Amino acid sequence: MHDESLLYQFKDGIGVITINRLKVMNAIDYKSITMLSSLLDEITDTNIRCLIITGAGEKSFVAGADIKEMKDMNRSQGENLSRAGNGVMRKIELFQVPVIAAINGYALGGGLELALACDIRIASQNASFAMPESTFGIIPGYGGIQRLSRIIGQGRAREMIFTTRRFGAEEALPWGLVNAVYPLAELMPSAMDLAGRIASNAPIAIMSAKKIMNESVGLELSAADQLEREAFGNCFGTWDQREAMQAFVEKRKHGAFRG
Ligand code: CAA
Repeated sequence: MHDESLLYQFKDGIGVITINRLKVMNAIDYKSITMLSSLLDEITDTNIRCLIITGAGEKSFVAGADIKEMKDMNRSQGENLSRAGNGVMRKIELFQVPVIAAINGYALGGGLELALACDIRIASQNASFAMPESTFGIIPGYGGIQRLSRIIGQGRAREMIFTTRRFGAEEALPWGLVNAVYPLAELMPSAMDLAGRIASNAPIAIMSAKKIMNESVGLELSAADQLEREAFGNCFGTWDQREAMQAFVEKRKHGAFRG
């Protein structure tokens, strides 16, 4: 269902999706969005423990939605594009295992929205960030308005969206927009290392923690606690829980987690 503009590799429990539209700075058009959505559906390997999303080349993660494609859209086409974008971003957010955005350059507009849908964002030193939509007479349409303020707070999100100012990775770090910044050559090795550390933990626990974190957004604490209690209880009796705790008591290394 996908062509060369979207690459997928899988090894040792870690999947890597690369947005590969180098000629347009990896900007994503409608077709890219539908292909990404299909690809996510196709990743059914139960051995997957973590997914990384990055951009091809050394300049750009994703330079937003495809402006050339959007230029002549009418109101309903705009709404359809947003619906497709919203859908795929939500699919990433709800993806069964953690998703890391390895931001290797421009993360602008829809590109930043893609990164915001991921669980963890790390960036290269040359990365830059902006929500430039209002310079084109539109607003962020792939869930960015909601996710940006949840991640960096209302004040900073409003500043970004209203000013459209572009800034670098070093500024994004203290804002909490990214968790870490690396020289470009170290970005993918660091993403793989981070994914590997996630993959080394009990899969049921990781998937369950992600699910609860997603489901408890917007819930009252008591309702969120209830979800957490049930999920916590469900971890007990799994082979991974039994083995890891038994191994601790016996002062030995636990066997490989089974999930
Ligand atoms: N859509 C379509 N084409 C794009 C693009 C985009 N978002 N971003 C870059 N390109 C294309 C350029 O048009 C250019 O194509 P040509 O060679 O045919 O001219 C090619 O990629 C290379 O780009 P530049 O020559 O501009 O390269 P640069 O290094 O000078 O600048 C850039 C790079 C800063 C990313 C600049 O291209 C730019 O500002 N792009 C637009 C980024 C943007 O504003 N994105 C937000 C879009 S709105 C959105 O995303 C809506 C939403 O919320 C869903």
